[in-house]
Amino acid sequence: MPRKTTISHIKCDVGSLAGHHIVPKSLLNIADKNLKKAKEEGLINSYYVFNVGDDLQLLMVHENGEANSDIHKLAWDTFQEAANKALELKLYGAGQDLLKTAFSGTIRGMGPGFAEMEIEERGSDPVVALAADKTSGGAFNYPLFRIFADPMNTAGLVIDPNMAGGFKFEVLDTIENKKVVLKCPEEVYELIALVGTVQRYMISAIRRARDDLICAVGSVTRLSQIAGRYVGKDDPVIIVRAQHGLPAVGEILVPFIHSYLVEGWMRGSHWGPIMPVGLKDAKCTAFDGPPRIVALGFQIANGKIASDDNGKPMIADLFDDVAFALARREALKYASMLRRMGEFEPARLGPEEMEYTTLQQILEKLKGRFKPA
Ligand code: 13P
Ligand code: 13P
Ligand code: MG
Ligand code: MG
Repeated sequence: MPRKTTISHIKCDVGSLAGHHIVPKSLLNIADKNLKKAKEEGLINSYYVFNVGDDLQLLMVHENGEANSDIHKLAWDTFQEAANKALELKLYGAGQDLLKTAFSGTIRGMGPGFAEMEIEERGSDPVVALAADKTSGGAFNYPLFRIFADPMNTAGLVIDPNMAGGFKFEVLDTIENKKVVLKCPEEVYELIALVGTVQRYMISAIRRARDDLICAVGSVTRLSQIAGRYVGKDDPVIIVRAQHGLPAVGEILVPFIHSYLVEGWMRGSHWGPIMPVGLKDAKCTAFDGPPRIVALGFQIANGKIASDDNGKPMIADLFDDVAFALARREALKYASMLRRMGEFEPARLGPEEMEYTTLQQILEKLKGRFKPA
């Protein structure tokens, strides 16, 4: 029996330094302390704590399966503790994404985002975890389409007979809360028709068609629907497996040599260019952005993240590379173009997507002053 290993990537905005900019070290330390303890106690086998902008990211590898209540509770308690510290320090938006109070089995629907994948370990299992700040789950639709369905992006779709059967995309309708599975290449046009609508349809999982091997899992949540108001964006994460009958790591990364537009940015209410960066630049500044994305590469080995001689997980900071300098420049160019337009569409999201209620309030205020034209 091949070994079954679970990758759990759970993230939350627990409060940040200087507005929605970054998770400060003292909060990362709390996460590190708790996950270290969980590792010593044998609940998890490996972990990596990091932040992308104001989102605290817990990457954990263990053997307890998906939606395990002990794992989710570990994340929940860690976020609570970090949020309390944020409150004490009067950091901004302390506990921003903690929308519920009592933990009830899993973290689903409670505010934090998560992507989890139980895998049967292959001979070698390279994984890429992508995490973004100041955008939403739909931001991954375009690159996921390129990676798993576009033969002009992924040479393996043409060259590797193991990929010839194509991939199945699970797409979530975030308004109706329904899922549909579309198989590519046969249904590529239908897939694009749906996931081109990035604000409503989001790719939640991808499987290899010929054997249902799990290839990618994303966090798709709608914080505003849980909270009933705008609280922050559902800054998304996704886990993607690579190589040997799946897209190569380089095929997963190549869509990011160019920037593209995603929803989010300032107040979650604007279109903005995605900027692929290394961890050191994963911080949002200008107009609370531009939206950043990081890609961490690692290998799953014997229930763990493959570690160095000192037992530290080996993590490759994949966008920390000159190969993405062009995308970063493009992102700056698009950012300056869009910001020149201020609050005029299409720089700002359309009215139905405006997450702050201020527009509604303005309409209410002016109601009596509208006269028949
Ligand atoms: P795989 O055999 O892992 O698909 O490797 C192909 C490759 O070398 C991609 O660059
Ligand atoms: P976050 O969703 O990253 O907290 O950002 C909220 C915001 O309003 C940024 O301007
Ligand atoms: Mg925030
Ligand atoms: Mg954020």
